[in-house]
Amino acid sequence: MGVPIEDRARWKGWSDQLVGFDRADPAQLNDALAGAVDHARHMIAERRAAEHGDLLGALVHTRDEDGDRLTESELITLVFTLIIAGYETTAHLIGNGTRALLDHPEQWEMLRSDRDLVPAAIHEMLRHGGTALITRPRYATETIELGDREITAGSAVIAVIGGANHDQDIHEDPYRFDITRHHGRPGEAHQAFSHGMHYCLGAALARTEGEVAFDALLSTYPDLSLVPGRPPQQQAVPGALRLTELPVRLGT
Ligand code: HEM
Repeated sequence: MGVPIEDRARWKGWSDQLVGFDRADPAQLNDALAGAVDHARHMIAERRAAEHGDLLGALVHTRDEDGDRLTESELITLVFTLIIAGYETTAHLIGNGTRALLDHPEQWEMLRSDRDLVPAAIHEMLRHGGTALITRPRYATETIELGDREITAGSAVIAVIGGANHDQDIHEDPYRFDITRHHGRPGEAHQAFSHGMHYCLGAALARTEGEVAFDALLSTYPDLSLVPGRPPQQQAVPGALRLTELPVRLGT
């Protein structure tokens, strides 16, 4: 989106506050929201004033065939969604995936010696402990039957991605972490990026980022291990799997 390097730490701070609402105090949450919205507004104004040649610049100058442009609040929402949905989900995929691999040292060894397994391992990390465990609510526009339930018009429905990803009718021995599970299989046999018209916009980018990160981690710290007696700490928010601490040893 063109956030300058010197402003990235501020965005990380705002993002941590906004997704870490279990720990934040309401005043800090307000400040984080106001800070991010103000900065998004500032970046949009800069691109209105001069050409920047980046994605946000393109969005600011986009017109559809009727000459209609994205409104200020649509642009701010896009900046927000792409930066925060794009950064923190992938960051936690890397944390959760590292934990899963270190909890299963034989899988870490297997991946270390066969890098062709990295793409399949990322799929298994997403299935086994992806960042997003539920979708946003959808509202039924009419009364429908789903399975053995009636969903009445107007009621909210949240799909539990974590449940679908551990459905034993679909995944054999679903609680077993197995990086070979998806190897050589076409398509995506899990729901970590949701399904249908709201399927994650950044799925391909997230998978690629994960592949680059784990390739680098395995090369840089081949002897990485968990610190005995220091269990990882997890954020207490429903619907998301985010670590706040993962103490590791970098070497033997
Ligand atoms: C491991 C990383 C990621 C995971 C697990 C993830 C997961 C998801 C899920 C489950 C949804 C659907 C939510 C719903 O149906 O209510 C979603 C939507 C979305 N994701 Fe991701 N995401 C990831 C990375 C990214 C990245 C890197 C970007 C952008 C750069 C991104 C942008 C979006 C956007 C814009 C949507 C909304 C799509 C729509 O409503 O049409 N995500 N993501």
